[in-house]
Amino acid sequence: MIQSLGYAGFTSPRHEEWLEWGPKYLGLEVSSHRGADGAVRLRMDDTAYRLAIHPGERDDLAYIGWTVESARALAALEQRLRTAGVEVVRETELAAERGVVELISFHDPFGLRNEAAWGVTTYPSTFRPGRPMSGFVTDDGGLGHIVLITPSLEQSEAFYCDLLGFALTDEIQPTGGPRIHFYHCNPRHHSLAMAEIPGITGVQHLMLETRSLDDVGTALDLLKADGHSIQMNMGTHTNDHMTSFYVRTPAAFDIEYGWGGLLVDHEHSRPHRYESISIWGHKNDAGQLPPPGIIRPLGQPAEAEVLA
Ligand SMILES: [Fe+2]
Repeated sequence: MIQSLGYAGFTSPRHEEWLEWGPKYLGLEVSSHRGADGAVRLRMDDTAYRLAIHPGERDDLAYIGWTVESARALAALEQRLRTAGVEVVRETELAAERGVVELISFHDPFGLRNEAAWGVTTYPSTFRPGRPMSGFVTDDGGLGHIVLITPSLEQSEAFYCDLLGFALTDEIQPTGGPRIHFYHCNPRHHSLAMAEIPGITGVQHLMLETRSLDDVGTALDLLKADGHSIQMNMGTHTNDHMTSFYVRTPAAFDIEYGWGGLLVDHEHSRPHRYESISIWGHKNDAGQLPPPGIIRPLGQPAEAEVLA
C-alpha cells in the first residue's frame, strides 16, 4: 500500500542552523523555496524537497510523509483507515504546501502524525548537492528510513503493518537492549523500524544513504573537525549491511549517514533474527549510547500540529 518514505518534517528552535548544517556536512541542497512558516527545506534528489525543518519552540517530529502510487491507492488507504476507526483528514490546502497532488493525514496509536500522498513534485536534473559528493540513493526506495520508538510493538504493528501495509523484514534483539523490528514497503531492506521501550514514543533516527562510501567518510571528517558530537562511530549493521555513523543534528534527532544498504527480494526472503546490531563498529567514544534526541512521554501531545 505505502510505496516509500517520501518526506519528513521536524520542528526546532534551531531550524535556521540547517541552512548551513544541511549542505556543509550532509551534502543536502537548501531549497530556494522556504515553507510558508519559514521552514528550511532540504533536497537530496530531484524531488522538490525531502526534509523540512519548521520553526518551533521544541525539537519534535512534526510528520512522517509516505507516498502511494496513485489517487486510487490513496483513496483505498483512506478507506481502510476509516474502516478501522482511524480519524483521517483530507488536507486539500496543505497538499500544495507539501508539493504533492493529494494528501491525507492521520495519527499512529501513540500520537505521531503520519501523512500519505501521491504526485510528489519533482524538478528533473536540478539537484545540486550542497558540497561536492556523489548524491543519494533514493528513487523507488524513498529518502531512506526512519526508526521510531514505540511502547508497544504489537499495537504499532496493528497500525503500520495491518493498515499501512508494511511487512516485517527481520528483527534484532540485542543483549540487554530493546527489541527492534524492521519493516519494508519496497526493495530497500527497511523504510521503517521500531524499537520497543515502555512508556515513551519518539524518533531514534533518520537514515540517508549516499552513493559512495567516501561521502560518508568525508562527512565524518568534516563533523569531527568542527567538534560535533558523533553518537555512534563508523560501523556496519548486521541486517541491512549499511556502513554508517550517527550524528546528533541541530534539531535533536540523529541522522544515520550511510552507504551500501541491502536491497532485498522480499518475496523470496524470510525474516531473520539477529542478536547484535552491528558486525563491527557503531561504538560510542563515551562507551555508552546517549538517549534518543526526540522522546515524547505518552499522553503528551506534540507541540503543535505543523500545517505549513
Ligand atoms: Fe538505521
